[in-house]
Amino acid sequence: MRGHRGRHDPRRRPGRSHPRRGGARRDRPRRAARTGPGPAGPSRLSPVAVVPRPPGAEPELRAADFERARALAAAWAGLALGPQKRAMVQARLGRRLRALGLGSFAAYWARLEDPTTAAEERQAFINALTTNTTEFFREPHHFTYLRTRWAPAAWARARQGAPRRLRLWSAGCASGEEAYSLAIVLVEAGLVAPGWNTRVLASDIDTEALARAAAGRYPAERLAALPPAVRVRHFRPRSDAPREWEVQPALRALVTVRRLNLVEEPWPIRTHFDVIFCRNVLIYFDRPTQRRILARLRAQLVPGGLLALGHAESAFGLVEGLTPVGPTLYRAER
Ligand SMILES: C[S@@+](CC[C@H](N)C(=O)[O-])C[C@H]1O[C@@H](n2cnc3c(N)ncnc32)[C@H](O)[C@@H]1O
Repeated sequence: MRGHRGRHDPRRRPGRSHPRRGGARRDRPRRAARTGPGPAGPSRLSPVAVVPRPPGAEPELRAADFERARALAAAWAGLALGPQKRAMVQARLGRRLRALGLGSFAAYWARLEDPTTAAEERQAFINALTTNTTEFFREPHHFTYLRTRWAPAAWARARQGAPRRLRLWSAGCASGEEAYSLAIVLVEAGLVAPGWNTRVLASDIDTEALARAAAGRYPAERLAALPPAVRVRHFRPRSDAPREWEVQPALRALVTVRRLNLVEEPWPIRTHFDVIFCRNVLIYFDRPTQRRILARLRAQLVPGGLLALGHAESAFGLVEGLTPVGPTLYRAER
């Protein structure tokens, strides 16, 4: 597995379903270790598993703390954290508490309420609980469709006099690989050229992930699957970091990186998009939230525009006015 880091690798982020950089592909956080009754069923003597906490262990996320974290994650980011996510929340917020030197979740909740720290801590809380798994040209069939069907159609419309203006949006872009993959398709299809006005918006709620997207620097192993010619056209090795490559300035200039919370209304966007990729984001939301976001994404498409969702997501039965044109790929009806 490319870029796999073992359990004891210090760079591995505890509770993350993947390392922050160069990691294995997985969206859903790893299942929590079983702490409840074993397969033999509950013991009559000890109905509640009591796990002794070694001295110096991180503060314990009690049931009430978990409920509070779940409520805040839902309210602030739309994240629906099921009961099975308790170990993940313990690990990720526990890490944050350690970084802050806080000894209890009570102290952490106070920090989230203190007007002098609340705004910054709210963002750190969201950053801790998002899952940013991504890779270049992930779920490649969507990019194949863009290259073989959508780009030639855009060229055909342009030759018939349509405006040479294209807007694409990676909504939930994580560290930017999806947005730069879109930009590469556009360049390779000749849709970034004199006379064309072409842009990609890369948005996410997680400011740490966005900082990586904006920097456009990636460990070499993240680019290993790209054809060498594509790699050298759009990336260059960093002279000051031997194992890293960075996006070429021309590609970087195509992509606007900005924070956007999909559950906030309204979105600060007036543009209508030719293509929206919102992949592997809706899985973190509950059904009513998915329905609302899908309707808003649909409304943000130009007539005939494309919406791509992730492999475990579907617009079926949730929104009107989208016609399937491929696996988890939809066209806005005109
Ligand atoms: C698994 S990544 C998907 C990355 C990329 N779209 C892909 O498929 O490879 C999910 C991303 O959704 C973002 N996200 C979660 N909730 C969000 C929200 N309310 N608004 C915007 N982005 C959100 C997370 O921060 C994370 O970066």
